[in-house]
Amino acid sequence: MALKGLENTDLKLILFGGKGGVGKTTCATATAIRLSKSFKTLLISTDPAHSISDSLEQNIGFKQQSVNNVNNLTAIEIAADEAFAMFKKQHEEAFRKLLDTSTNFDQEDIEQLMKLSIPGIDEIMSFKSILDFIEEGKYDKYVVDSAPTGHTLRLIASPGLLDEWVKLASSMRWKYRYMITSFSGSYKQDEVDNLLLNLKKAVKRIEKLLRDNIRCEFIPVCVPEWMVLKETKRLISSLEKLSVYIRQIIVNNVMESEEGSFCKRRKAYQFKYLQNINETFAHLNRVKAPVFPEEVRGLEALNQLGDFLFRDQNIQH
Ligand SMILES: Nc1ncnc2c1ncn2[C@@H]1O[C@H](COP(=O)(O)OP(=O)(O)OP(=O)(O)O)[C@@H](O)[C@H]1O
Ligand SMILES: [Mg+2]
Repeated sequence: MALKGLENTDLKLILFGGKGGVGKTTCATATAIRLSKSFKTLLISTDPAHSISDSLEQNIGFKQQSVNNVNNLTAIEIAADEAFAMFKKQHEEAFRKLLDTSTNFDQEDIEQLMKLSIPGIDEIMSFKSILDFIEEGKYDKYVVDSAPTGHTLRLIASPGLLDEWVKLASSMRWKYRYMITSFSGSYKQDEVDNLLLNLKKAVKRIEKLLRDNIRCEFIPVCVPEWMVLKETKRLISSLEKLSVYIRQIIVNNVMESEEGSFCKRRKAYQFKYLQNINETFAHLNRVKAPVFPEEVRGLEALNQLGDFLFRDQNIQH
């Protein structure tokens, strides 16, 4: 079977994920190249150990950059820590005021706290950047290469984390508002309230997008091996619990050749896991990609992989 439905114009965000080393970056990049034949496409890496540059054999970096020799394809590697630093800088006054007016911390404590990161903030910032790109609307398709499972789950769960944080900060604020109102009789909304409100709205928009099975889908990538399958099952069930739409899975590195004893043995051991995949993921469209004799890197090899992922489909100009 081939990847299906990705050409639907309502579908904007396509996220790739899975266990370490199974071919997420390779499949995301090959898919983005293929989609760019018909759609303006942005390939985004949220993996802190970025590798789309290596895959495309071109330095990408933290700014949107056209991919050489591929029309309509732009790529970017999101630097979550930089995005957080910028976000903090933009809202520094509001953050300081929040700590100053809602806690008993003295100035020294506040200075220390301002230097600290917030757990989970990197994932939140990555997602906020993706949301900003989509809302800017410069592209038709946004293809995301994410880091291995744990990080991906944190990325998907990040709106929930941020929501908890905003709730806590807002409840601390209520005490402050109550005091101000009691003393002065009235309370005027300030930059801290605006920041909290904006964050709350961002959480809602991210959650809505993630659970929108018309605008967003997640494609797990796996290989037919025991440890990978165990982790893939956990990943898929966690995502399904979070109502993230999964309709297809890529099974990468499938041995097709039977030449020689090495290939025969490899094919035989993969066979039982392929059967297992057919049973466990019977509800998903299962897309197989063969193991290539060499690594899949550079446009030519990525195009070849794209041929397998999109076989019998004609995404063309
Ligand atoms: N079908 C394939 N045949 C042969 N080599 C492949 C295939 N798919 C991927 N590879 C190679 O496997 C290696 C790992 O692939 P890739 O970097 O895409 O995995 P990943 O899941 O993104 O890894 P990570 O978890 O580290 O981000 C790369 O060297 C890539 O060229
Ligand atoms: Mg990768």
